[in-house]
Amino acid sequence: MVKIIVAYDPNLLIGKNGGLPWPMGTYPEDMKHFKATTIGHVVVMGYNTYKSLGMPFLPKRDNVVITRDPVKRTIEYQDANPTQKERPMFASSLDEALRYAKFVHEKKDVFIIGGASIYKMVLEADVVDEIIASQMKLVYGQERENPSALALG
Ligand SMILES: NC(=O)c1ccc[n+]([C@@H]2O[C@H](COP(=O)([O-])OP(=O)(O)OC[C@H]3O[C@@H](n4cnc5c(N)ncnc54)[C@H](OP(=O)(O)O)[C@@H]3O)[C@@H](O)[C@H]2O)c1
Repeated sequence: MVKIIVAYDPNLLIGKNGGLPWPMGTYPEDMKHFKATTIGHVVVMGYNTYKSLGMPFLPKRDNVVITRDPVKRTIEYQDANPTQKERPMFASSLDEALRYAKFVHEKKDVFIIGGASIYKMVLEADVVDEIIASQMKLVYGQERENPSALALG
């Protein structure tokens, strides 16, 4: 199954200045939920989200990073830390990421973990079976009237 997992504020804000809208550690229970839900499965993310992780790999998950840049997909570029045994698989498109995830790991779920451009792309491609969403209590950006789409601040 292909599942989106996403967290937003009451105005559907999902990101700010390249990171989450809320300070790191604000919602430990949501982080626990994210980990417990995705561990053992495949996580697919855009390159900006990958860079925002602050670590080279989300452990105990098969990481797939989508980038258009052929240079970023080369092993030499990715191998900034030669001792790093685990590294993501880099895909050039959503299609390639999903094909890899489904065929290599056919028994695992595929979690689309962001960011904004990847969520938009998967929703438009109509490949999502389930959406797991957490709404945070506080507003972190501008108020929006009847927000209907995920937003970045
Ligand atoms: N609240 C949440 O649940 C949540 C979850 C995840 C992320 N976020 C937030 O979302 C923000 C990042 O979102 P974003 O939209 O800026 O970035 P993103 O979706 O994480 O990554 C965008 C990058 O993905 C690659 N990409 C996008 N579409 C592609 C396509 N069709 N084919 C190939 N590659 C493609 C490109 O990488 P290249 O430029 O390398 O080609 C593009 O620059 C951050 O603020 C992050 O904290 C929030």
